[in-house]
Amino acid sequence: MTRTPIIAGNWKMNLLREDVSAYAEALADAGPPGAQVDVVLFPTPVYLELAAAAMPDWAAVGAQDVHAEDGGAYTGDVAAAQILDAGASWALAGHSERRQYHGESNDDVARKARRALDTGLIPVICVGETLEQRQRDETEAILDAQLGAALEVLAAADGAGIGAVVAYEPVWAIGTGLSASPEIAAAVHGHLRRRLNRHQAGLGDSTRILYGGSVNADNCRDLIGRSDIDGFLIGGASLDPASFLRIIRLSTGSAGGS
Ligand code: 13P
Repeated sequence: MTRTPIIAGNWKMNLLREDVSAYAEALADAGPPGAQVDVVLFPTPVYLELAAAAMPDWAAVGAQDVHAEDGGAYTGDVAAAQILDAGASWALAGHSERRQYHGESNDDVARKARRALDTGLIPVICVGETLEQRQRDETEAILDAQLGAALEVLAAADGAGIGAVVAYEPVWAIGTGLSASPEIAAAVHGHLRRRLNRHQAGLGDSTRILYGGSVNADNCRDLIGRSDIDGFLIGGASLDPASFLRIIRLSTGSAGGS
């Protein structure tokens, strides 16, 4: 099965207004990638509207988080309908930094992803184990629990024809410069795919599974060379448009970008 790759940049709590505009200009100047690929950028909520308006039409915009309720008294949070209204079309759910610093549980993450999907956003469900969990040989059990809570919403996304997306981001590889090796990442992606296929025949084959954690221009080709790795969720190396464009070009073998 052919799955369109996704190259996504998670800017986290970085960049200011002028950086977002300059970034969009750099992408527009580079022109569209000469290959089939979904390019998505995840700015902070205050710049969603700016980014969505400024980006070239081949680069989509998404939110880094989404609330599980459709509105109401939730100070500081952002509703899926507001994200959509700002011009965004994707949303992350359950990034490890949300799980760690905001105490999001597997059920919270599934509810967020469900709200995003029901509102018309493409949810990206993030999973990943900590170093301690890996050292205790708990990786598969942790991932099974994280993925398990979200299986229904992934199946619904697949059924809705928008395509389910999972991002495997081992916590020990995020921001550390220590990317998972292609072997480790591919083994986990294979595990996740089999788990999805057990839930519903074919779901694992159609779901796009991204890798995230210290992806850069030096390691992206080896990682995406693995058939189970469908693209990337990139933090630090996505902050500079030249670096992000380089990763798109190297990962897709496309002529676009610089
Ligand atoms: P880094 O690429 O900076 O390791 O961050 C990965 C990440 O958390 C993307 O969501």
